[in-house]
Amino acid sequence: MTSTAMRTHMCGVLDVSHIGQTVSICGWVGRRREHGEHLAFVDLRDHSGVVQCVVDNDVDVRSEYVIRITGVVRARPEGTVNAGLPTGAVEIGECVVEVLNSAEPPPFPVDARADDVDESVRLKYRYIDIRRERMQRNLRVRSKINSAIRSEMESNGFVEVETPMLMPSTPEGAREFLVPSRKEPGSFFALPQSPQLWKQLLMVAGVDRYYQIARCLRDEDLRADRQYEFMQLDAEMSFVSQDDVLENIGRAVVAAAIAVTGEAPPEIERITWRDAMERFGIDKPDLRFGMELVELTSLFAATEFKAFAGAACIKGIRVDAVTYPDAAASGRNKLDALTDRAKKIGAKGLVWMKVGADGALDSPVAKFLTDSEREALVTTMGAVEGDLLLLVADEWETTVEVLGQLRNDIGRPPVHQGPYRYVWVTEFPLFVGVDPVSGKPRPGHHPFCHPHPDDLHLFDSDPLQVRALAYDLVLNGWELGSGSIRIHEPELQRRVFNQLGISDEEADRRFGFFLQPFKYGAPPHGGFAFGIDRLAAILAGEENIREVIAFPKTQSGSDPMTNAPTPVESAQLAELGLRLLPPPASS
Ligand code: AMO
Ligand code: AMP
Repeated sequence: MTSTAMRTHMCGVLDVSHIGQTVSICGWVGRRREHGEHLAFVDLRDHSGVVQCVVDNDVDVRSEYVIRITGVVRARPEGTVNAGLPTGAVEIGECVVEVLNSAEPPPFPVDARADDVDESVRLKYRYIDIRRERMQRNLRVRSKINSAIRSEMESNGFVEVETPMLMPSTPEGAREFLVPSRKEPGSFFALPQSPQLWKQLLMVAGVDRYYQIARCLRDEDLRADRQYEFMQLDAEMSFVSQDDVLENIGRAVVAAAIAVTGEAPPEIERITWRDAMERFGIDKPDLRFGMELVELTSLFAATEFKAFAGAACIKGIRVDAVTYPDAAASGRNKLDALTDRAKKIGAKGLVWMKVGADGALDSPVAKFLTDSEREALVTTMGAVEGDLLLLVADEWETTVEVLGQLRNDIGRPPVHQGPYRYVWVTEFPLFVGVDPVSGKPRPGHHPFCHPHPDDLHLFDSDPLQVRALAYDLVLNGWELGSGSIRIHEPELQRRVFNQLGISDEEADRRFGFFLQPFKYGAPPHGGFAFGIDRLAAILAGEENIREVIAFPKTQSGSDPMTNAPTPVESAQLAELGLRLLPPPASS
């Protein structure tokens, strides 16, 4: 129901079915073209679209004036129908025009041409930018996603609970925004990186199934998929296994996708973290294209070639390769660029081999390989004439990461280009790497993820081999969300802290407010959160989440419209007990 006291129809809906009707429409003046001596065409625009109105040309309406037109819908004269416009078969005649508000000339055209305008200008005048079809569509995509998520979660028994924005600092990993306390000068609240703490407490509190479309804040460097403020579908469930969480979150994601695209994506696949790393060299694999990594270590077990010989004798060193299809004709520059890129990511070098007719290999390194090594290489890789093979030898992590990055550089389509390939990545490691200062393992995600029960025997002897009941959802190579089954047993939590080098006293001091409640009967529980901005961007066909956020920050973290962040009066600082240091000298 879109009619109001001022209008009978939206502009964009008028078509031949309305011919003969008197309508009132309201909106902004788009293009105006003079038509003969007495008439002008005015395109009237609202969020639903535009319609052509024929008005007396002595009516003073200009670009972006807000007007109301009452007139009669009629068929456009033959030869003037615009098939590219939903309203293109009709126009409004006999127009009575009321100017509701005048407008200064807009800083940029309110149509697709604004896409070429500098983004800071679009954001400075965001209220005008949003008048455009692209932004109207994107905001409506978001709205559909939120509404589909809400109704899916509600119908699965989840209860929406709002959690505080002012909270203590928590160990979730990202840098926090701090809010100084006026009542307790020198003390600070933190803004939530996520409602993680609260949702786990809600499980202790017996809520059973919680969800929230939650605003989260993180002081991170901004990128195409990162803003300071963003929205998550945040959920937590009690008495569940990992499968329960994945099924319920999966349903919400699918409901959101259907709401936007009209069709269900293929069933969400599952892959373990280890397999994702082995096959794609990355924990957020893009499954829209092949070029999977192939391990060749055993093939080079007896090789004379120096760079690969180590693989056979040094434990942990291995050789992997990817096929770059149809790139055998690459010239020196391209091959050098690939090698430089591999080295920049961390490789010691990159071997390339051009595959010719009958499996012949053209490479500076080919002469160091035996005939049988060359044959086995071509066969194992399934290489065909025209392929370029790229090989790296190193420790496992480096080999797969370098080739995974090259694979993405070479083959990955833009994130927002279909098809949509969702995948759960499960069994993330509980710890990743060792802190160079403390010599202790570092948490893979956060210290509250439950270790995989099958790996508990390795917990003390080989902690880096322990998997967690932690999982991510990935869409077209973007991490859409993360979650885990949590630790609910205080003793296990203490052991994880101790592995991380956090003593019982330190744990009590830093996280006591969180650990204490777990002594009062915490149910087994687990949850998940996915980024609504990221999902909305991909489903809206956008490459940057800024395009699906009404008022985002620029890449450098400011808002050109309000100029935030801005300095504040010294009286405000004094009230908070704060004094500013001189700005750090720029390096
Ligand atoms: P995590 O930190 O992985 O997990 O965040 C979950 C999802 O939130 C989105 N996201 C962002 N989106 C835009 N801008 C950002 N700066 C940004 N940071 C994160 C991503 C990401 O996958 N509490 C845990 C979840 C849990 O364990 O239940 C959490 O917040 O899409
Ligand atoms: P070098 O023996 O360092 O002169 O290298 C000979 C060739 O092997 C060069 O093309 C290097 O880029 C490549 N290379 C060296 N080390 C590695 C490695 N660890 N993995 C893959 N290629 C390598």
